[in-house]
Amino acid sequence: MLANPVMTASGTFGYGTEYSHIFDIQKLGAIVCKGTTLEPREGNPQPRLAETASGLINSIGLQNIGVKDLIREKTPLWAGWRVPVIVNIAGESVDDYSQLAKELDGVAGISGIEVNISCPNIKAGGAEFGANPESAARVTAAVKSATSLPVLVKLTPNTNNISKIAIAVAKAGADAISLINTLKGMYIDITTRRPLLGSKTGGLSGPAIKPIALAMVYEVAGAVELPVIGCGGIATAGDAIEFFMAGATAIQIGTATFINPHAPLDILEGIEQFMKKEGIKDITEIIGAARE
Ligand SMILES: Cc1cc2nc3c(=O)[nH]c(=O)nc-3n(C[C@H](O)[C@H](O)[C@H](O)COP(=O)(O)O)c2cc1C
Repeated sequence: MLANPVMTASGTFGYGTEYSHIFDIQKLGAIVCKGTTLEPREGNPQPRLAETASGLINSIGLQNIGVKDLIREKTPLWAGWRVPVIVNIAGESVDDYSQLAKELDGVAGISGIEVNISCPNIKAGGAEFGANPESAARVTAAVKSATSLPVLVKLTPNTNNISKIAIAVAKAGADAISLINTLKGMYIDITTRRPLLGSKTGGLSGPAIKPIALAMVYEVAGAVELPVIGCGGIATAGDAIEFFMAGATAIQIGTATFINPHAPLDILEGIEQFMKKEGIKDITEIIGAARE
């Protein structure tokens, strides 16, 4: 159970430490750290970021320090924090995911695992697992049997059957579902006549994707009994409240933090103000309100 429903999205808040001098990160509901793999990764060739209308296209490619350094360098600090930290994991095979879950199990400072079966920026694995109900279920079951930590599964919007995938993941034992990851996108530099990003395509995030994310959260919240964590383009308290009304029990803030590093806290305070103004005592009063 989180102290409040505002979380940060993986890959946009580092390991939490990067923001601890900017605001009191202990006030957040939870922090999700950068996607972690078995071995360290350097990520994709530069450039890896392109700004687009109301959005950002990134092709970072899961640059990260690897699970061993994460456990050695980051978790001792997290263990002293009040805010729970959830580790986002990614692999190229079912076995990679299960090994990652095993390594993280029982480590002090880790409160949960978010299974990224939705990264559009790596050649093998990632979104491939999330685009198909059977493989999404296989990864979920493998992670569940390798850990006693709560398991969140993060879905990709790059599919035409997100409900089927959510149902498969729920049946395979997920404790919660988070959605959405980025949408595949491209930016072409018209002077060079080539795609700007080193890996040609990337993942679109930011306000541009909010209506899509909201519709998908609405759909998935109607398809499964599990807690649904909404993510995608949330930049204001009003955006967050829309996700609650669609059926999300918590939300994650990603790209908004690049524009305003205080965004997660501003949004949390804005939700509290809205609740006060509307006489809402508990956030559960509005969860799924738009579905009735
Ligand atoms: C620079 C960048 C890096 C990201 N890295 C990850 C990652 O490592 N793992 C993951 O599951 N999602 C990753 N994401 C996706 C976000 O967590 C989030 O799902 C997505 O950006 C949509 O939310 P937003 O519009 O609020 O940013 C990344 C997004 C951005 C912009």
